[in-house]
Amino acid sequence: MNPIRRHLTIALAASLLLPLALQPAQAQSPASTAPKPQVVILATGGTIAGAGASATNSASYQAAKVPVDKLIAGIPELADVAQVRGEQVFQIASESFTNDKLVQLGKRVSQLLRDPAIAGVVVTHGTDTLEETAFFLNLVIRSDKPVVVVGSMRPGTAMSADGMLNLYNAVVVAADPRSRGQGTLVVMSDEIHAGRDVAKRINIKTSAFGSQWGPLGMAVEGRTYWFRALAKRHTVKSEFDIDAIDKLPEVFIVYGSGNMSLEAYEAARRSGAKAVVHAGTGNGSVANYAVDALRSLRTQGAQVIRSSRVADGFVIRNAEQPDDKYDWVVAHDLNPQKAKILAAVALTKTNDPKELQRIFWEY
Ligand code: DGL
Repeated sequence: MNPIRRHLTIALAASLLLPLALQPAQAQSPASTAPKPQVVILATGGTIAGAGASATNSASYQAAKVPVDKLIAGIPELADVAQVRGEQVFQIASESFTNDKLVQLGKRVSQLLRDPAIAGVVVTHGTDTLEETAFFLNLVIRSDKPVVVVGSMRPGTAMSADGMLNLYNAVVVAADPRSRGQGTLVVMSDEIHAGRDVAKRINIKTSAFGSQWGPLGMAVEGRTYWFRALAKRHTVKSEFDIDAIDKLPEVFIVYGSGNMSLEAYEAARRSGAKAVVHAGTGNGSVANYAVDALRSLRTQGAQVIRSSRVADGFVIRNAEQPDDKYDWVVAHDLNPQKAKILAAVALTKTNDPKELQRIFWEY
């Protein structure tokens, strides 16, 4: 065959075959007939169950109104992903979560995951304290099955509500075997975050949640895409177990600022708090006039944990404060509200500040 004819033949063959080669592999596989994985949705309330007076009420509405069965019925596409059923554990706005509710929710998650038929659990939750609940479950649920916490920034009654797609994506992640062993996850605005890292960083946008070390992956059109894994201990590698926890100790947070009042530390002492998280300025700094109040708390048996009011970065030990000398703990990169959760869980096992510091480095 002459060279020009051979070249044209190859070019024609390539133009016919190339589009097939570029199609995603799963598009050609036959529809699977295997039974769908079982996913349980534990509903606790929040905006994802919220309702506003009109479609323009994207920020003014009542949280915790819509029951879980209605949430599920509103997304028939869930049946393409998993066999889904719901339980209404609470129906509250998440700012109203208490330690007892955290423990109750954790025990129910643990109980469900012990059922070999259940592939994963989704927790619908208000966004205000979603990061605390997700971190708590990350510390105490001794299973590698996916637990996915999800919320929404707009009620389902609003235009461009985000709850339906967030919940659909959460079920996709909970049903996906590749989500196993990733720790407790948070799915919001197409992103898959580590419950340990994620925080509500904006209080009025659907892209409210972020992690300073970045998301673990994304959920897009029914598929998950993973780009990294959590470096810290969690779930099956944790030394904590919800089935051995019935109550969490009281931990205070004192917010640092200029011209601080020392009353908050006194209130912590009077209440018998087991630890105080000092949400300090900068690198967890302590005003010179507040050092004695914190040292006195330590002397009286409370733990002192230096966190920072600054969103990103991490608190360094013995930087501006002699933590070794004062027997204080630093919260590493955990924000004050997460430091409070870890302190409370850790204090169920130890009151040794050196052990506490190890725990803050490792989780
Ligand atoms: N009250 C807030 C809560 O339940 C509403 C915020 C939300 O869920 O997005 O967390």
